[in-house]
Amino acid sequence: MRNALLALSCCIKAAAAMSPREALAKRVVASPAPVLAPLTRAGTAPFRALCRRHGADATMGEMIFARQLCKGDRREQARLRRPEAETLFGAQIATNQISEGVAACVLAEEAGAAWVDLNCGCPIYEATRRGLGSALLRKPAKLARLVGGLVEGSPLPVSVKIRLSPAGNKDVNALEHIEALAALDHKPAFVTLHARTATQRYGRAATWEDVEACARKAGENFPVLGNGDVLTHFEARRKRAVAPTAAGLMHITHWWICAQALINPWLFDDIRNEKSWLPTAAERLEVYYSLVAGYRDTFGDDERGRKTAWYFVPFHFNFFHRWRPLSEEHFGAFEIPLIQNGRAVDAALEEIEGPRAALAPLEQLLRCAHADAGEAIADALWSSYSVADAVAAVTRLATPEHLAAWEQPDAETRDEDEGHSSSSAGKKRGGGGRRNS
Ligand SMILES: Cc1cc2nc3c(=O)[nH]c(=O)nc-3n(C[C@H](O)[C@H](O)[C@H](O)COP(=O)(O)O)c2cc1C
Repeated sequence: MRNALLALSCCIKAAAAMSPREALAKRVVASPAPVLAPLTRAGTAPFRALCRRHGADATMGEMIFARQLCKGDRREQARLRRPEAETLFGAQIATNQISEGVAACVLAEEAGAAWVDLNCGCPIYEATRRGLGSALLRKPAKLARLVGGLVEGSPLPVSVKIRLSPAGNKDVNALEHIEALAALDHKPAFVTLHARTATQRYGRAATWEDVEACARKAGENFPVLGNGDVLTHFEARRKRAVAPTAAGLMHITHWWICAQALINPWLFDDIRNEKSWLPTAAERLEVYYSLVAGYRDTFGDDERGRKTAWYFVPFHFNFFHRWRPLSEEHFGAFEIPLIQNGRAVDAALEEIEGPRAALAPLEQLLRCAHADAGEAIADALWSSYSVADAVAAVTRLATPEHLAAWEQPDAETRDEDEGHSSSSAGKKRGGGGRRNS
């Protein structure tokens, strides 16, 4: 009893000695589940709630333009909303000015965020033309000044999400950024490296050797989290082996943030349990139904609510149809990341499952890439009030006529890089494209 009390008092003293940034980093990094990556148009409160139900502890939201937020833009304000229960939420901001960024951090604190993440990875023109997102990676010393100022002025801990470089392979400068950030008096709580350059988009596999190099360079200054191409628990394990905790550097840990939850939101549980859940079509529908019901609760069960929710709901189905039963037994030895390898995965699955046309109609339907299929499924789920109703309504959609019509992706949703997200989907569905960084 005495020993237990002694241990407890040591823990309390150690926690008390920690700065808020260290305490935040500890909470984020100590979780056995990865952090949900910032996802514009997808990292909404209902989607984050779904991921939390499936094992996510720490979550990030959609990128918020700090300037618009500070001017009171309601859309940007909405991106800060979170339920009380979401205690480890990071609000991601895009800014290149210390005063504006600090003002946004204050608003994030008032909204209950646990920390603020600075976006230095967004490659889209909308951000880079204003000197935001990956444009910040051009000058390491300048970025470090910005980060130092934000950390000093912010009431919340600040993390930073970078890429390998703002441009092509030759200009990789992530290590320079880590060095400049490590030299700051006011350091970030952690740094995430999306291990691709800004111009690579999703065309190349993420290079986790660079995550390792950055984590070593960061030393004890802050933890480095890796990001890119983790679609299954066994890929997570493999990435971790490429970027192991550096021996002898006690406080360094690499963990990762996870965007592939877009396809399987239960990936957090899979990584925690080191085991893939391979749900049936009906079980997947139950998951998707809970998300759609979450949007209905958030925006209202009427025409107005549906109209607002429809900016987001069909967008999720542009990712859900990509799910495949990837068992470690059959796919554990694939060299190229599974997400980069959509056609080879489908060819291998044909050997295991038989031809796609022989699958149960509901299973075929859930794998249809056509935007109209996603829209119809979303619609059926929105109009259902129980899992049983939802499964029955979607099953009714799986007619031979529909399956034939939706067999091929439409021009708007065609994959550009074998299974990764299509950048054009957003345009058709009223979003002006996505800001995937
Ligand atoms: C739909 C979508 C939206 C995204 N939005 C953001 C964002 O707002 N901020 C950001 O830093 N990254 C964003 N990203 C990038 C992801 O956070 C992640 O870095 C990237 O997808 C690489 O991880 P992956 O290989 O696991 O997909 C987005 C990605 C996608 C697919």
